[in-house]
Amino acid sequence: MKNNINIAIVGLGQVGIYLYNELNIKKKDIEKKTGKKIKIVAISAKNKDKKRKFSISKKIFYKNPLQIFKKEKIDILFECIGLSDGISKILVETALNNKINVITPNKALIAKHGDNLSKLAEKNKVNLEFEASVAGGIPILRTIKEGLATNKIYKVYGILNGTTNYILSEMEITNETFNKVLLKAQKLGYAEPGNPKLDLNGFDAFAKIRILSALSFNTRISKNKCIMEGIENIELEDIKIANQLGLRIKLLGISEIIKNKLFETVHPCLVNKNTYIGNVNGVMNAVIMEGKPIGECLLQGEGAGPGPTSSSLLSDLLSILKGNIKYPFGMSYYKRKSVKAFNNNNYKNSLYLRFEVKDRQGVLSLITNRLAKYKISVKRIIQTPDKKNKKARIVIITHKTTEINSKNCLSIFKKNKNILKFPTLIRLYN
Ligand code: HSE
Repeated sequence: MKNNINIAIVGLGQVGIYLYNELNIKKKDIEKKTGKKIKIVAISAKNKDKKRKFSISKKIFYKNPLQIFKKEKIDILFECIGLSDGISKILVETALNNKINVITPNKALIAKHGDNLSKLAEKNKVNLEFEASVAGGIPILRTIKEGLATNKIYKVYGILNGTTNYILSEMEITNETFNKVLLKAQKLGYAEPGNPKLDLNGFDAFAKIRILSALSFNTRISKNKCIMEGIENIELEDIKIANQLGLRIKLLGISEIIKNKLFETVHPCLVNKNTYIGNVNGVMNAVIMEGKPIGECLLQGEGAGPGPTSSSLLSDLLSILKGNIKYPFGMSYYKRKSVKAFNNNNYKNSLYLRFEVKDRQGVLSLITNRLAKYKISVKRIIQTPDKKNKKARIVIITHKTTEINSKNCLSIFKKNKNILKFPTLIRLYN
């Protein structure tokens, strides 16, 4: 690689603009560490005149990012727009086809098109790096690709979304509403650009799980149909009840090889407050890997926000500047295999069920009889009457049951006049 490196940044949202500033202030340090002189020669965003945290040089601003390839000789492109398709995909493909290295924090793009893009990078002998796409500032991908390179990893799981972990923790501490806490998370730059839904509905964590699976198990990115649930249905009430039970709600991403099949999921979990994962709070993410011979290995750090994300983007940059073309997923696209999906119906958990019911004779037995019919055994039951409204809340913790069994069992409660709304279900983590 030559000594003077030209850089372009496309997308100047919270992450892009932070990165722009970091590159400017860390030029010297980067040169000391790599022997390369970097220069930002082009930037692009939707709005040139938007008020930003750091001022930009308008001389190098491009309204149309595709013009950059025609007008400048760039060596490294940072794609910081964040779309799974559209201009993000076009830009990355164009760059790779022009033998330009690409660095991106865009997990939606990598989870959807990572296989093809890695094939393109391999063909053009350039790097495609995406450390910042999973768990913000935690150097998890490089750890799997390099630090744990010869291990056989069979499970990887953890808290992979900073926004939702922040929301759940903050609601527990402050008793504030979901919406109020979400606004705070957005101000801190945790949520996905433009669309916090992608954090709340589990999509963001799910994209990260897809990337982690591919890297951990040396497989192609799966397209399996999986259980993906977010935190939209979690109420302050559930957080408080969990607290009383010595539990805490966490949005977990889990990926595991079970009997040579791949199981991937994202859903809220009740975990014991005295466990490690139960104490990863706020914007913190944690990723736990289980493998041989390493055993259990875990990494924790800030999972969202411009600072931690830039830290990972710069680590990608330094990795490229230090030389070598690396396979984006640790091994050649052609050597990574597809793996069959584990049947989600057989996924087993204890369940937390919260029923809001009319306080009438026979309602509790209706619920327990139904559970008994499906051989779902009750571990714990708490009924709290609301006398004024002639209602009651019934919380049941069950022993383990399969996904299909609980689905069939609970279906009846959709249309029962004594059950005021479909029960809230939260799985317990084993
Ligand atoms: N929106 C993500 C999160 C940050 O909240 O974790 C980037 O991955």
